[in-house]
Amino acid sequence: MITYDLLKKLNLQYGDSFYILDINEVKNNFNLFLTAFLNKYENTHIAYSYKTNYIPHICKAIHMLGGRAEVVSEMEYEMAKRNNVSDADIFYNGPYKKFDYLHKMIVGGVHVNLDSYEEFNYVSKIASEYGKPYSIGLRCNFDIGLDRVSRFGFDVEDESFFIMLEKIENHPNIKLTGLHSHFPERRLFAFVNRADKMKALLLKLKRAGFLKDLEYVSFGGGFYGKKTESLDFLSDVDFPSFSDYAEPICSTMNIVFDNIVNKPELILEPGTAIVADTMSFFTKVISIKTVRGKNYATLSGSTYNINPSVKNINRPINVYSAQQEIGEKKEYDFVGYTCIEDDVLYRKFYGNLDVNDYVLFNNVGSYSVVFKPPFILPNVPIIMIDNDKVTEIKRQESLEDILISYN
Ligand SMILES: Cc1ncc(COP(=O)(O)O)c(C=O)c1O
Repeated sequence: MITYDLLKKLNLQYGDSFYILDINEVKNNFNLFLTAFLNKYENTHIAYSYKTNYIPHICKAIHMLGGRAEVVSEMEYEMAKRNNVSDADIFYNGPYKKFDYLHKMIVGGVHVNLDSYEEFNYVSKIASEYGKPYSIGLRCNFDIGLDRVSRFGFDVEDESFFIMLEKIENHPNIKLTGLHSHFPERRLFAFVNRADKMKALLLKLKRAGFLKDLEYVSFGGGFYGKKTESLDFLSDVDFPSFSDYAEPICSTMNIVFDNIVNKPELILEPGTAIVADTMSFFTKVISIKTVRGKNYATLSGSTYNINPSVKNINRPINVYSAQQEIGEKKEYDFVGYTCIEDDVLYRKFYGNLDVNDYVLFNNVGSYSVVFKPPFILPNVPIIMIDNDKVTEIKRQESLEDILISYN
């Protein structure tokens, strides 16, 4: 159980702000997510999205459980290699693939999902020169009822998509082994539409004879994590369960590949669903002031530590006070240590508060540590909890860490 005294001990040991990672929760989420899909489609695999949170301890725990890696840059690819992931277990997406890497990866057996005609033209040229079969996947883009037109992948309704499929079909050294889709919308309707559109596309390509080499269909990521009590305040958000997500996706796979003995793999690329609720961010109240009737508590952390792109949402917090229940309850905005006026971590907290109290921000596992630049202060430590064991897995960064790459 977390108490003020326990946090005081951690404060003395690790400083005024740090992340806390619960590694067992990562494993638990991985198993829950995978099982929900395995129950409906046997040949399901998770390729964990490195961009969401690439802490090596998280990635390795997932790989130990059989999870693969989804990467979108050569940096993430090299990370996966350092985590001992074999090329055959890596899925390479993203709109900016350096051509020399692209070649190295395809030859090595990485599953590459192409994103543009420039990538296809390059692959088509080097495949001819290379003289051995190249396997490629294509990221598919279609309308799933969102306001915004996605910029990723190929418009499958455009004629050029089919011209490309013909070219692949007639190329002596290229095989179409994968189809991929991902859209940035977590609500269930988007997955129902994604699954419907993929079903129509797969059936169309199957009839046209383009799927004879198909090895996998990837439905990408973008799933909400499991609903925890700490998210109760988001009562207007309808969190689908992992099984709700699995229903339309697996149904598409089962319908399209109904009469096929060796069914293609279903690949899922969750990041947030596996890590969001596995990390908290520890901060300390540094000062309290009232300005023209408004109460501010300045914290040792910043919104840049907990994903600044999530704006105007109060994350689940816990406040630990030495003087709990003493003093007058007031309304406070929790503001960050930076000089940005907008750096507000929490609005309208109502309660007792004192300097040196602690505020824990929960559900900060996705897009936090990977986004934080060394803005104003170097990055803070990360500690990992594994049952009763607490280990510092990333030390406090120093000025030297920041300056080292300047000539
Ligand atoms: C291609 C792809 N796969 C997977 C993910 C992971 O998304 P999330 O962390 O929301 O599950 C993303 C996120 O942008 C993505 O672009």
